[in-house]
Amino acid sequence: MRDEECVRFLQWALPQLELRWPGFRKVRAQVCKRLQRRLSSLALETVDDYQGFLTAHPEEWEVLDEMSRVTISRFYRDRMMCTFLEQEVLPSLAEQAMSRGDHCLKVWSVGCCCGEEPYTVAIIWKLGLQTRFPRLGLQIVATDANPDMVRRARRGCYPLGSVKNLPRKWRERAFTRQGDDYCLKAAYRADTVFMVQDVREAMPSERFDLVLCRNLVFTYYQEELQSELLGRLTGVVRTGGALVIGIHEQLPAELSGLRVWSEKVRIYRKTA
Ligand SMILES: C[S@@+](CC[C@H](N)C(=O)[O-])C[C@H]1O[C@@H](n2cnc3c(N)ncnc32)[C@H](O)[C@@H]1O
Repeated sequence: MRDEECVRFLQWALPQLELRWPGFRKVRAQVCKRLQRRLSSLALETVDDYQGFLTAHPEEWEVLDEMSRVTISRFYRDRMMCTFLEQEVLPSLAEQAMSRGDHCLKVWSVGCCCGEEPYTVAIIWKLGLQTRFPRLGLQIVATDANPDMVRRARRGCYPLGSVKNLPRKWRERAFTRQGDDYCLKAAYRADTVFMVQDVREAMPSERFDLVLCRNLVFTYYQEELQSELLGRLTGVVRTGGALVIGIHEQLPAELSGLRVWSEKVRIYRKTA
């Protein structure tokens, strides 16, 4: 399939799934490749044939929705954000949790891919902050709509490319080598619970000190859906807690119940 055919198809199809084309522009190769494989498995020749197939088989939209999930992540993605988390956000949330008498900080990673994001928070906590807050634990809930990502996250083994942004001394402490893979030691996996969950359909019922929703809702979803989800995400952040979005993302609407904690690294604090 030629790139321009795939682009034309995506520009037609994505809005029907409440997804926005500009979010996919730079990362479309992954989706186009899956589309090509789907066409082959259905013995269809062109995207026009596939368009016809979608019309004749509406249940295929669900397959297309699954094929449209971009799965790119890495540990310590956006160094400045990670540093800000370590130096400002987590210590402040930890103080707050302790003054409430809580025993642990609660974190939710939305669209957690293979665990790179929640495990980054676990590593920052254990290697950067735990000694300052020895009596405070960490509980991370990490959700992804793709069961395959969740299976890989639970296993916790990665190629070098996924872990190379981590500060070297942390990488050496937190991982063991298994052949070419870097496998996260059990102690760093222990605080994270993974669940298959589509953020459009469900959210954990508890309240969190920190919610990371990066490179998903505010990149790929249409504005109306972004606004709706922002309201629901804000709802599960505790007062005084933080919401982190992707470094290239913007929140869709007027901030309601949130104030900017750092514009540069896209962190917001819940005020009420
Ligand atoms: C681009 S990755 C971002 C990973 C990580 N948050 C980061 O910033 O590095 C997006 C992840 O969201 C997941 N995802 C896509 N649609 C989802 C949905 N509706 N609900 C939950 N997860 C979803 C994908 O499977 C993928 O793992």
